Amino acid sequence: MQAQAIALFQAAFGGPPTHAASAPGRVNLLGEHTDYNGGPVLPMAIGARTTAAAGAGEPGWIDLVSLRDGLVERVRWDGALPQGWAGYVVGVQRELAGLGAAPPGVRLAVASDVPIGGGLSSSAALTVSVARAFADLAGADLSIQDLVGVALRAEAEQVGVRCGIMDPTIVARGRGGHALLLECSTGRMRFIPVRARFLLFDTGVRHELADGVYNTRRAECEAALRVLQLTEPALSHLAEWPARRVPALRRLLDEPLRSRVLHVVTETARTRSGADLLARGRLRPFGKLLDASHESCRRRYECSAPELDVVVRAARRAGAWGARLTGAGWGGCVLVLVGAGDRATALREQAVIDAVNRAFTRAYDREPSVRSVRPGAGARRERVELQ
Ligand code: GLA
Repeated sequence: MQAQAIALFQAAFGGPPTHAASAPGRVNLLGEHTDYNGGPVLPMAIGARTTAAAGAGEPGWIDLVSLRDGLVERVRWDGALPQGWAGYVVGVQRELAGLGAAPPGVRLAVASDVPIGGGLSSSAALTVSVARAFADLAGADLSIQDLVGVALRAEAEQVGVRCGIMDPTIVARGRGGHALLLECSTGRMRFIPVRARFLLFDTGVRHELADGVYNTRRAECEAALRVLQLTEPALSHLAEWPARRVPALRRLLDEPLRSRVLHVVTETARTRSGADLLARGRLRPFGKLLDASHESCRRRYECSAPELDVVVRAARRAGAWGARLTGAGWGGCVLVLVGAGDRATALREQAVIDAVNRAFTRAYDREPSVRSVRPGAGARRERVELQ
């Protein structure tokens, strides 16, 4: 993607960029909708990446072009927030300006193979890569923590999708061969080696998080927290609710808030024990937690979609060790744990792909796309010379 972004810049603006950076997509192994509830998450960066190539432009303006349509768009960055991906770019620029780290004017070319809206964090791949390239262009030395903060606020406060800390963190900090256990309330991190084979099925069903259902869930969680604080004034996040006090939730909360909290509390426990199992290479019981996570997302958090459920069921029936939706849900991708990567895994993998394709075609008259995913590196600077 690096060469494509640089060539696109050259073609669109008639000269080479001066700075470039790239950032990956991610899958989340466990810990869905726990980040904004102060719980743990267990994501890993993947091989698909977004590259941002940048050069100085006219002060006050951003000229931007993406490989997807090749059309140059011109936006003022102090005006109304533009629609679409330009809004994220302007959001980044404004957040950088708040830190005194924004270039006065920019030209930007973006190339990406992270599927958009597929739950693989295409937006954080964009905001993190753009933030790094723009800050470098401005000559500002931003720490990774600053970068994560800029990317998070660009999406949450500028664009208005109130996403949590998981995506910018893993996208900025990912490490080849490892998943990251991140405790979102304290920022504590532990890298865990991944020795497993995963498939990723993309259902092709797209959601627009800004449409509101994600923000609705966040509002439900905030409402539930306020109710629980009446009996537990020290409770600062839902994820802190003690597992032994789960039965009390029946009395304290009405539906749907009770189910939402049950999801968060049980997912918190699954994620911590899942990280330990993964670290010890105990993939079978780890896979069982993936299955349980999907069921909790489906029934309690109501963030699945029929297409995701078809893939999950078919994969499990064909012998997968675990399968669940990954990312926010309501569409996007299913992550399947096929095995440890031995000969038996290869056979099982083919059986899973065949079974999922058959079941999906029967239901929807088309096949989902499939790829294998392994843990890749986080954001980095890229050379700007064309190879
Ligand atoms: C989206 C958000 C994340 C997280 C997940 C759900 O990907 O960007 O912060 O909340 O949904 O786990």
